[in-house]
Amino acid sequence: MKEIKIDMKLEEIPVSELSPLDRELMNRAIAAARNAYAPYSHFHVGAALMLTNGKMVTGCNQENAASPSCVCAEVAALTQAGVLYPKVPIRDIAIIALKKEEPTERIAPCGNCRQVMLEYEKRGNSPIRILLCGREKVQIITSAKSLLPLSFSADELG
Ligand code: THU
Repeated sequence: MKEIKIDMKLEEIPVSELSPLDRELMNRAIAAARNAYAPYSHFHVGAALMLTNGKMVTGCNQENAASPSCVCAEVAALTQAGVLYPKVPIRDIAIIALKKEEPTERIAPCGNCRQVMLEYEKRGNSPIRILLCGREKVQIITSAKSLLPLSFSADELG
């Protein structure tokens, strides 16, 4: 029997120490979250992308009475980038959730969002830096791949 350990590294920094660009991205995610359509969960999520061409694209969750038809903030933002700038790689994504209009401690993206991020990362052939934003701290992960160990991707299809 062989034991295989998979490590995952992340950086955590106080919001006050974010670079001006990262802070701007976080603010854009907050603004997007305020536009969320979340009448069922009241969990308002916003995502803001920085593309390699300097453009920012945002998204927020879009709920549905039929819950499987709900669209997450990350997927809304990534899809929007795919529509507007299909050839431009994504450099960063900032994600935040608001409860009663206040940021939560930190959001962790759902499995489906991780899988979708991974596809955009592969498509752009460049790592997407992920900022999991919270009230006081931000956790930074250097790629979608490291957020989804043992992931399924086109490599499996051959
Ligand atoms: N949600 C997101 O937008 N992104 C995630 O990564 C996790 C969950 C949304 C979906 C739903 O509208 C609400 O949060 C509660 O699950």
